[in-house]
Amino acid sequence: MSGVPRMYATPLTSNQTNEKSSKGAEGPHLQDLPQNSPQALMKPGAVSTVPNIFKEVRGDWVLFHPVYTPEELHAVEVMHREAKTLSDTIAYNFVKLARWGFDVISGYKHKPMPPNASVLTVEELRKGGYIMDDRQWLKRFLFLESIAAVPGMVAATLRHLRSLRLMRRDSGWIHTLLEEAENERMHLMTFMTLRNPSYFFRALVLGAQGVFYNAFFLCYLVSPRTCHRFVGHLEEEAVLTYTRCIKEIENGRIPEWTSLPAPEIAKDYWRLGDDAKFLDVIYAVRSDESTHRFVNHSLANLNYKTDVNPFALREPDMNVKGSTLWCVHSSPSENGTDEIFLPDQFRARRAEKYVEESHKIIEGSK
Ligand SMILES: [Fe+2]
Ligand SMILES: [Fe+2]
Repeated sequence: MSGVPRMYATPLTSNQTNEKSSKGAEGPHLQDLPQNSPQALMKPGAVSTVPNIFKEVRGDWVLFHPVYTPEELHAVEVMHREAKTLSDTIAYNFVKLARWGFDVISGYKHKPMPPNASVLTVEELRKGGYIMDDRQWLKRFLFLESIAAVPGMVAATLRHLRSLRLMRRDSGWIHTLLEEAENERMHLMTFMTLRNPSYFFRALVLGAQGVFYNAFFLCYLVSPRTCHRFVGHLEEEAVLTYTRCIKEIENGRIPEWTSLPAPEIAKDYWRLGDDAKFLDVIYAVRSDESTHRFVNHSLANLNYKTDVNPFALREPDMNVKGSTLWCVHSSPSENGTDEIFLPDQFRARRAEKYVEESHKIIEGSK
């Protein structure tokens, strides 16, 4: 672990299977939280894992996933984490390669706007290849989501097998990874309500899945840390893509989506209002991507063999996840910046504080 930033001062490591169990370290549940906690379930015995920020809680057949307040939806920033180690550099270069392949497959070309863009109509801009139409955006989303749902499932599978093989506790990683995989799949299911992809497109997804699943599987066997870093960077790209899309819709450049209602599946999944629009769905999806970005960059900072997943019991809200890329331990006395905090350091401290609180909850329940 030398040279790798730690997430917190005193690492919380896995218990042996014969040690006393503690809440949150293995398969935690929101019911473990105090009843007056904002994340506690609204009614005892409810199977929903949706936080009680909404009046009505229905049974929920999906895994835990965040439901965002309107303020959280707007708290997401486009961010990029600079590589600090060789493994970081490898991970980022793989993302650049994946991005290039993805651009080729989805036919995306970034063409700078012409000087007279403000006087051109949407049709003229589309004809000139300066902006994408709704079908091109959807094609991009569908391909992106069909791939994005793979890493969480692969990582969860391998951690599951590792736990079986070594007969050791997993320390709460599997569930977070499965949640991520399902969350990405729900993105795909949501966008599928708007388009029925061609057989050619499906064949491309099939081929890409075959290659990516196996490649990620092998890479995760070699270096889980590099793989989580890779996903962290991939999610940076996803946040960027959805942020661009939001801007385009709000600037009236995708008129088909200006007042398009949200699909029912999305209203149910993210607990959106009856009058929710497709734009609200894109905001929610972007927030999810920001969650994956934060979680994966953070997991890449952990020792995958011994550390407990700090997000097993709870997750920070979007004000932390949307503007922070990773959790690092950097105490003022260590780096000599007792008085001066750069914005990034401040953000890292805020995230670190959150993680430390989570560990106190877990430790307190031992
Ligand atoms: Fe996604
Ligand atoms: Fe994602």
